[in-house]
Amino acid sequence: MSAVANPSTGPPVDARDLIRSKLVEPSILSADYARLGEQLRVVLEAGARAIHVDVMDGHFVPPITIGPVVVEAIRDQIHEAGAMLDCHLMVERPERQVDQFVRAGADSITIQLEATPDVHHALRMIRDAGCLAGLAINPETSVESVAELGDRVDLVLCMTVNPGWGGQPFIDGSPAKVRRLRELLGPQVPIQVDGGISAKTAGAVAEAGATLLVAGSAIFGALDPAGAYSEIARAAGI
Ligand code: DX5
Ligand code: ZN
Repeated sequence: MSAVANPSTGPPVDARDLIRSKLVEPSILSADYARLGEQLRVVLEAGARAIHVDVMDGHFVPPITIGPVVVEAIRDQIHEAGAMLDCHLMVERPERQVDQFVRAGADSITIQLEATPDVHHALRMIRDAGCLAGLAINPETSVESVAELGDRVDLVLCMTVNPGWGGQPFIDGSPAKVRRLRELLGPQVPIQVDGGISAKTAGAVAEAGATLLVAGSAIFGALDPAGAYSEIARAAGI
């Protein structure tokens, strides 16, 4: 299956299809960067078809993580496995960074609602560049704030921890929030959850209507990342 992103013609058909399926997305935030390729190989062979990349700028959230050069370095390995690259930008004014991530090989780019005064413009830039556009909301942001944006986004990310760090405890009220989001958005819009997702929490968010489950420490912090990936997928009914 060819899944090489072509920014001039839009993301590969596979990314549009993949985003509408049910997926567990390993987040490389908790991976061992000294052997990133090997860690990716393990989860891709286990069946992962989306890899989640957490970009933090030291402003929107305190930590600084990784940027487009890392996306570029892993793009071919991910695309050759028939998987997509899902970039989650926890950065101020993400519209200033969109081009770089598109060029680096992102298939989807998710921005935080709280990070720019011009959400419409930022989402439009992402789509115009041929990428899938995601919109993330923090735990304290109301679901109603995305009500008018359903047709401008390809996924809505409901943060299930406060963004900034891997390994935080899952916020207990999250399944109820996902359920409200699902009611508001209808059945078509993919809902992603991110933070504290493990085999223990996956079932409740999937049951509430989440279709894309991001998991970092529960996969890469496990002795057997492939086994952990499969366990979360099973718990989510995937
Ligand atoms: C948190 C990031 C997450 C992070 C999740 O700010 O957006 O993607 O990797 O990590 P875990 O799964 O360890 O909570
Ligand atoms: Zn994330």
